[in-house]
Amino acid sequence: MGPEFRDRDIISITDFSRDEILHLCEAGRRMQELEKTEKRNSLRDALKHRTLSYMFYEPSTRTRTSFNTGMRELGGRYDGFSGTEGTSVMKSETVRDTVTMMCANHNDVIVMRHPLDGSLQWAADVANIPVINGGDGKNEHPTQALLDLLTIYALKDGKLDGIRVGFGGDLSHGRTVRSLSLALSHFDNVTILWAAEDFLGMPEDLTALLAAQGVTVVREDSVRGVMRHVDFYYMTRPQLERMPGVTQKDIIAMMGQYRIDEEKVRGFDVRVLHPLPVNSEIAEIDYRVYFTPAQAFFTQAEFGIFLRKALLHEMLGHDGYRRYDSRLPAELGRGNNRVPRQIRGTKESGMFIDKIHDGTVIDHLAPGSLRAVSDALDLENRGYSCTTAVITEKKNPFIKTSLAELSERDLKKIALISPEPTIDVIAGGSIREKYVYLLCANGNCITRVINEDVPPRFYNDGGAMRCRYCRRPYSISHRKVSAEEKAAFTGSLPRTIEAVPYPD
Ligand code: CP
Repeated sequence: MGPEFRDRDIISITDFSRDEILHLCEAGRRMQELEKTEKRNSLRDALKHRTLSYMFYEPSTRTRTSFNTGMRELGGRYDGFSGTEGTSVMKSETVRDTVTMMCANHNDVIVMRHPLDGSLQWAADVANIPVINGGDGKNEHPTQALLDLLTIYALKDGKLDGIRVGFGGDLSHGRTVRSLSLALSHFDNVTILWAAEDFLGMPEDLTALLAAQGVTVVREDSVRGVMRHVDFYYMTRPQLERMPGVTQKDIIAMMGQYRIDEEKVRGFDVRVLHPLPVNSEIAEIDYRVYFTPAQAFFTQAEFGIFLRKALLHEMLGHDGYRRYDSRLPAELGRGNNRVPRQIRGTKESGMFIDKIHDGTVIDHLAPGSLRAVSDALDLENRGYSCTTAVITEKKNPFIKTSLAELSERDLKKIALISPEPTIDVIAGGSIREKYVYLLCANGNCITRVINEDVPPRFYNDGGAMRCRYCRRPYSISHRKVSAEEKAAFTGSLPRTIEAVPYPD
């Protein structure tokens, strides 16, 4: 039996094996063949009565319309929103509630793009229908990587081993370079060469990851230095929308020698790819290149239709459908981010200030954070006591409050100001529970947005902790958590990103 895509969530390119990528490349090639032989609509009943919901919180031309085209040619329908204006997102509706509504609307699949890293894993957790990542923050764009691979595969007659790809433009703030290079790492003897200004260069964590997977990654000084060695040059748009404080003028200066023009491709047998759009102000690809044999980005864009049509066919081309279920799994309401600490002496000590009989001690706060934490919690206006303490004998300040149970939102507010607070729950004058609260350190992760109410969850990726949502690595830095406690906690985490089961 070959790879199975039935009702599967498509969140990260790292979830695909080499066989699965090759299977989809072949399926995409078959869709291309139908087009070449004028049989575009030969599968027009394949997804009859199926509906795709597109939820685009960010602009898109290709991703949204190519999924719609795929659906249309397979006899299915599509509906959704492109931009949040006119939706209840403008009234602060959460991702959870909006995704649930798209399930309630009897859709069969969701394609979503959202500015926050990890938002697509969250959408997949919430939805009881399959979810496809159309781009989450600067995290991933897996179907772009698959269509890029399909383009290379088709233009290289089915060859991906031994491929040499150049990367240019903005390798740091985009998601396509990350997804494509991780996809390439499944293949043998892959070489990536890149040339870009330091600020826009290949992220070190990605270079290290690729090197660990056997990919040769080489930085060159010039675009021609890269062109000389590669089969494909993958150019990317500087992602100004993800660079607060940086102006277009700054970027134009940075791009200077790294733009692609006719001179840079002259004399080389190279195909220029680009996920598109090209920014016409920055013109990372000069318009004159469009009219040379090197231009392959419009071919690449059409491969997007073949790939997405093939993927939808594999995912939904079967009988039966998922009925809407209005119950949400309880797991979506709680995280796995509390590191239990040993309680030494159960009595709540006076610790230089008044004891509390029932309530909470928020301990080990970062020096200088006390005021900001107490302002954020606003305990007294909520009717609870709040005693703050900075004591010379104790490195870290703390707060005592009569509030017995801090909400997830309270805990996030604390951790956003002072990472890894220790929480002592006091009942009847004794410490009943002690834990350190963890929050993903990636500033753009959906778990850090208070009113999205995404409970932080981590998983154990071969002994290292990663955020379930944005998949960034996390290491506990709390000085009081021992190596044994860290190891025990990491060992208790799930080994993979398992699907959240819906209640029976
Ligand atoms: N390549 C790509 O994702 O294009 P859009 O932003 O137009 O969808």
